[in-house]
Amino acid sequence: MSGEYKPGLEGIPATQSNISYIDGQQGILEYRGIRIEELCAHSSFLETAYLLIFGELPTAVQLQQFESDILYRRRIKYRIRDMIKCFPESAHPMDALQTCVSALGMFYPLTYKDFHDPQYTYDASTWLLAKVPTIVAAFQLMRKGNDPVLPHDDLSYAANMLYMLNEKAPDLEVAQIFDTCLILHAEHTVNASTFCALVTASTLNDPYVVLASAIGTLGGPLHGGANEQVMQMLEKIGTVENVGPYLAEKLARKERIPGFGHRVYRTKDPRAIVLQRLVEQLFDRLGHDRYYDVAVALEEQGTERLGEKGIFPNVDFYSGLIYRKLGIPTDLFTPVFAIARTAGWLAHWREQLSDNRLFRPTQVYTGRHDVRYTPLTARSGRALQ
Ligand code: SDX
Repeated sequence: MSGEYKPGLEGIPATQSNISYIDGQQGILEYRGIRIEELCAHSSFLETAYLLIFGELPTAVQLQQFESDILYRRRIKYRIRDMIKCFPESAHPMDALQTCVSALGMFYPLTYKDFHDPQYTYDASTWLLAKVPTIVAAFQLMRKGNDPVLPHDDLSYAANMLYMLNEKAPDLEVAQIFDTCLILHAEHTVNASTFCALVTASTLNDPYVVLASAIGTLGGPLHGGANEQVMQMLEKIGTVENVGPYLAEKLARKERIPGFGHRVYRTKDPRAIVLQRLVEQLFDRLGHDRYYDVAVALEEQGTERLGEKGIFPNVDFYSGLIYRKLGIPTDLFTPVFAIARTAGWLAHWREQLSDNRLFRPTQVYTGRHDVRYTPLTARSGRALQ
């Protein structure tokens, strides 16, 4: 039984899930039925991660245990740090992250016989949520020739991430803004990297490999790599006056504007709305950034030109302005996205295991049949297509 072929599986359900829900027309995103605006106002990233992975908001005892297990597991083996020392300084942080997450399976083997054992998915989730930020921060410091700093046990998840990156603890409001960014990036139904995670999970390989494959997918410029491209674009435009000419030239060349457009949303991404508010809150506290004015002008003029096609700012349009103000280098924007999306990938991994069937789609064959073998001496040497 084969269905209709749709490039990129556009509009084709690849799984059944009750983890998150998007209404692309209304601009709604829910995690386990709770609107993200509610979670941003009242929750924390780790509480949201627990909700996504295990299906319900944790009790106070469950949350305290989850936070403490993750806090206890933040450190990484010295051999992983030694491995990072061998990476070239010019390596992209997403490549470093993917390599190290792949290696985690060698150092923290999950030798469980039964992946239905709740302890298996709990341990895998806490190991990975705990170590991904430490790996990102270790690479950042070591590529500058410095020793990485140990995780700070007195700091929250978000505050500790900023501490490990900048070697100084952020103030509470700044840490809270960063924590909210992590909530907003945690999950988004079956996007490209989550679909990749599902396919790898369906082979019953270990969760480290599941995450390594998802990290590789997220890094592409059409997906999670766009936040880095947006910042580079804003710097290239430079001033509000240059927005019009830049936009006209890009669109005349039929090139895409990073941070605009989405396969599902036909209105402004609800996450971009919250992120824009966070930008303004952060700039009120830490001072303005002229690239925000460029971004606002680009949103206005970009929407004028593209809105009728249902193309509006997405999650990547404003996030980089926050990370830049927090002292995070541009090429670390996507690794920060990966830190947050670790929660969503783990949630889908666990859900796939609960009712697994190996992914093996079919294809529409467009090749030839019954072709005879041509001896080497008789080949014409047609140019490669
Ligand atoms: C993320 O799937 C998820 O949920 C992903 C994500 C998540 O949380 O996991 O939300 C995170 O990946 C956000 C998207 C980040 N990527 C970018 O910002 C890169 C720029 N955006 C585009 O490349 C594009 O919008 C996509 C890839 C995001 C979605 O594109 P689609 O659905 O494949 O749309 P399409 O290629 O079929 O384009 C339809 C039309 C085309 O014009 P026509 O040929 O019909 O005339 O819209 C145009 C496209 O040229 N178009 C754009 C555009 N995006 C689409 N034109 C200008 N700028 C853009 N950004």
